[in-house]
Order: sequence, then structure tokens, then C-alpha cells
Amino acid sequence: MKKEEKVSIRRNTTTSANDVSIFKNDSIIEFKNVTKDYNHEVVALNKVSFKIKKGEFIFLVGPSGSGKSTILKLLVREELATEGNVIVNGQDVANLKEKDVPFFRRKIGFVFQDFRLLYDRTVAENIIFALMVVGATEREIKMQLANVLELVGLTGKENYYPNQLSGGEQQRVALARALATKPSVLIADEPTGNLDPKTADEIFKMLVEINNRGTTILVVTHAKDTVDKLNKRVIALSAGRVISDEKGGYAGYDY
Ligand SMILES: Nc1ncnc2c1ncn2[C@@H]1O[C@H](COP(=O)(O)OP(=O)(O)O)[C@@H](O)[C@H]1O
Ligand SMILES: [Mg+2]
Repeated sequence: MKKEEKVSIRRNTTTSANDVSIFKNDSIIEFKNVTKDYNHEVVALNKVSFKIKKGEFIFLVGPSGSGKSTILKLLVREELATEGNVIVNGQDVANLKEKDVPFFRRKIGFVFQDFRLLYDRTVAENIIFALMVVGATEREIKMQLANVLELVGLTGKENYYPNQLSGGEQQRVALARALATKPSVLIADEPTGNLDPKTADEIFKMLVEINNRGTTILVVTHAKDTVDKLNKRVIALSAGRVISDEKGGYAGYDY
């Protein structure tokens, strides 16, 4: 048992065929030799491989244009890989039927740099809308609305419109909305890119808390100080390739 535990926490991208078969059900996300080119021109990702286990917290870093957002888009099947496999929850996303894609996406919460809220709807309505889309019952909606508002510290602000909130609060609404449907994975594309450092810190604290409650988290960020401080696994990309994948900080990279 001890030995197995040791092996299973190893983060080696060059695991042998044996390791793969032993731990094949261990990962919630797996990229296997994924290449993505857009319009047969730009190679955004070049043979990218990594595995993410249930419950992990991962930073995805790299210079602008290195392929970070492409990884997230492949994960939610907004784009399809040109070569290789993107496997989420044991399922190759390329094999999903069109009609199953919405259901598949419910299991993944997505947060963006620019919040992407519905600005003509209140905080509560933004969250309720996400729950209605997935067919939640009235009771579930009531419960989850209260739950996620509390989680992000916005209880009492349910009737505000996004424009009446600060940037940090708007991002918290986006987080609440993403979490309302209880996704197993939360992905965030530069979620603090539009926020001041103090507010950004609060959002990162919240992400850590959400992760502690069991949600797997993948965050694209340029917030070097935070990455260094939190000491999580960091996957670093450069020109569409994984150049480093280990626990720790930015480790000398300067983007
Ligand atoms: N829809 C697209 N069509 C053509 N090229 C794209 C598209 N999306 C991204 N790219 C290109 O793919 C590369 C990786 O982009 P992206 O994944 O957005 O990088 P990052 O998020 O790290 O800045 C860049 O060269 C970018 O210009
Ligand atoms: Mg990007």
C-alpha cells in the first residue's frame, strides 16, 4: 500500500505502459500527445501530455500565445484536437455525440478573465439561469443559490446587478455561477487578470478553499507571486509544448 501511494503521487510524464494500466482510472483529465493546429497553420499545441488526478490544484503558466487557452478549450470541447486524445472522466471527448456535449459540459465549471456575466440580470438571476439550463428543480435552485452565494461571500447581494458590484465581486458571481451545478472540475482562464493584487489574492484564496472541498481546479495565470506562494503543481508551456511539470513555483520562468 505504501509503495503504491508513493508511485501514485509521482508526477512523471514518461510513465511506462505498466504504470498507465495500473492507474488508468486515477486521472480525471488526461492529455495524450495532443497536437492542435488552427486552420492547418498555427501549431498551438505540440504533442502535449499530462494527467490530472481528482482533487488536484494545478496552475497552467506560460507566455502569451503558448497554448494555455487552447488546452482549456480542448477540455470543454470548444475545440477538437488535431491529433492525440483529450480524456475527461475516462471519456475521449472526441467521441462524444453532439447531443451529449451539453451534459458533458455541466461537469466542468468555466471562469473567464472578463467574468462574462449577464449584465441585465441580477446576481441571483445569473446563478439561477445556469441552474435552469441544466434542468435543476425549484428546490435545488433555492438550495444551491444560497449555498454558492455563501461560499463566495455574496449573501445579501443577490438583487444587485453586476454593474453595481466591484470587479472582484463580479468574479465571485462568476465563480458562484460556475459552481452552482456542482462540477467536478473548475477551470479558470486568467481569472484575476482584470483585478488588483489584493482582490486577486481573495479570489485565489477562494479557489484554494473550493479545491479543499474536493473540486479539481486548473487555473491559467500570470500571477507569479501567487503561484510561488501557493506551492501547487505547475504545468509550464512554451510555444505549445510542456517545458516543465512539477510542484512548486514559477521556478525561474519569467513571462
Ligand atoms: N481560433 C484561432 N484561430 C487561429 N489561431 C489561434 C486561434 N486561437 C488561438 N490561436 C493561436 O494559437 C496559439 C495559442 O493560443 P492560445 O491558446 O490562446 O495561447 P495563450 O492562451 O497561452 O495565450 C497562438 O499562436 C494563437 O494565436
Ligand atoms: Mg489565453
